Amino acid sequence: MPDPILRTRGVTKAFHGIPALADVSLAVERGEIHAICGENGAGKSTLMNVLSGVHPASSYEGSLEFDGRTVAFRSVPDSERAGIAIIHQELSLVPHLSIAENIHLGSEITRMGVIDWERTNQHAAELLERVGLSESPATKVRDLGIGQQQLVEIAKALAKPVRLLILDEPTAALGGADSDRLIALVRHLRDQGMTCIVISHKLREVLDLADTITVLRDGRTADTIRRDDADRSEGRIIRAMVGRDIASLFPPRERDIGEELLRVEGWTVRHPSDHDRVVVDHADISVRAGEIVGLAGLVGAGRTELALSLFGRSYGSSASGRVFKNGVEVRLRTIDDAIRHGLAYATEDRRRLGLNLIGDIQKNVSAAALERLTRVGLVDELREHKVADAYRYKMNIKAPSVRAVTGSLSGGNQQKIVLAKWLFTSADVIILDEPTRGIDVGARYEIYGIINELAAQGKGIVVISSDLPEILGLSDRIYAVAGGRITGETLRRDATQELLMSLIGAAGSVG
Ligand SMILES: Nc1ncnc2c1ncn2[C@@H]1O[C@H](COP(=O)(O)OP(=O)(O)OP(=O)(O)O)[C@@H](O)[C@H]1O
Ligand SMILES: [Mg+2]
Repeated sequence: MPDPILRTRGVTKAFHGIPALADVSLAVERGEIHAICGENGAGKSTLMNVLSGVHPASSYEGSLEFDGRTVAFRSVPDSERAGIAIIHQELSLVPHLSIAENIHLGSEITRMGVIDWERTNQHAAELLERVGLSESPATKVRDLGIGQQQLVEIAKALAKPVRLLILDEPTAALGGADSDRLIALVRHLRDQGMTCIVISHKLREVLDLADTITVLRDGRTADTIRRDDADRSEGRIIRAMVGRDIASLFPPRERDIGEELLRVEGWTVRHPSDHDRVVVDHADISVRAGEIVGLAGLVGAGRTELALSLFGRSYGSSASGRVFKNGVEVRLRTIDDAIRHGLAYATEDRRRLGLNLIGDIQKNVSAAALERLTRVGLVDELREHKVADAYRYKMNIKAPSVRAVTGSLSGGNQQKIVLAKWLFTSADVIILDEPTRGIDVGARYEIYGIINELAAQGKGIVVISSDLPEILGLSDRIYAVAGGRITGETLRRDATQELLMSLIGAAGSVG
């Protein structure tokens, strides 16, 4: 007997007259894991924001039913009182506060008007145990890895009387082991009776985890796939998402590898505040023209720190080692130095480092390459517009125009703008840090195509990715990184997933 805990009927919502959700009717069964899939901009987060009161009932058409009652949330606290908690796509913890403080932010445990720290910490410790995080509640959130932060977010949600837990791309930023841990936790919560909605672009994960899968396409429900359906496949999800089959995940490419562009020798970097800690340890890497080099490793292996410190010392302290550009030793002391010497670095942390969220798409795309658009001291706005529009078309960026405010775009579409910004620079060595994080399968293919095109133009590309199939599908040559060191180097044709897993120290931890 179906027993939905949540039902939406005809939910329709537009932003400035542009439809984001159109007549969405969704039924989530009590105690199930319900996955939502769809292209970037399909309306997944918007639908979740409707369910959790981020978008108040007055801002959309249609109705919600929760636990057998019609509800009209006016705010997030409204939905929380009903028993719905959401963990957003972009985590919202306060870095300089402790785990316990973050968990109880907004729902402080007080005694006679004063925060009761003993009970706060004790309650936090219980919640941490429930999510399987063995950290002291007093630990500052900034000292946690992203996987641990995600667990704190769940602990925070569980501090409230939650019966429906919504997770918006919880594993997007996680590597193998962290991701496995989170998935096990979601299953465990489900087995204890919690209903969970999970948004994800990782289709294998979705098929494995979800009882029911709803696919949204252009704000509409395109397909619903149940546990016992005969066809439960990636192919079916993709067809519903993009309306066609995708034969291969990686576009074909002609390789033409030339001279060495960048060589780094003995690169060593210490932690910015904890100077005894060596974060990058005597790394030697090189990139040739036309070559795609993969940096494989687990989250936290030191790959981002290596890239950031090379990119004008944007990370760490007392960086040492030698850097050669086109055979000549160079010093890259600032980001300007790095850009002048032809380096680009597209960040994995789009909200903090990558984008001006209040600026429009056009300004963001041109921001790192204004010299390419400037004539006699003036930015040629017409060309700027054309360039941004070409990327919008090529990468299928979902926005009404390149004048749209970047912060109003869906997560995956913001990620595409970070890439466009750095792909448009005149750099000849481009470091891409987790380039397809949160990007749907269709758009991923387009982005791989652009990466291939840049290599064909003779640029050297470094791809940092925690997704081994992506590293294997794209790279010509692969470095394995673990504990801040290069632990191995292999040509693509000699590499296997097993070899890389053992080199990055993941053997046995990833399924
Ligand atoms: N606050 C907002 N203002 C204007 N437009 C918005 C706002 N929030 C979402 N949109 C638009 O609504 C559409 C759906 O966005 P949504 O964030 O729901 O997509 P999504 O399916 O979660 O995509 P992704 O996989 O990239 O996270 C997009 O076109 C987006 O630009
Ligand atoms: Mg989203």
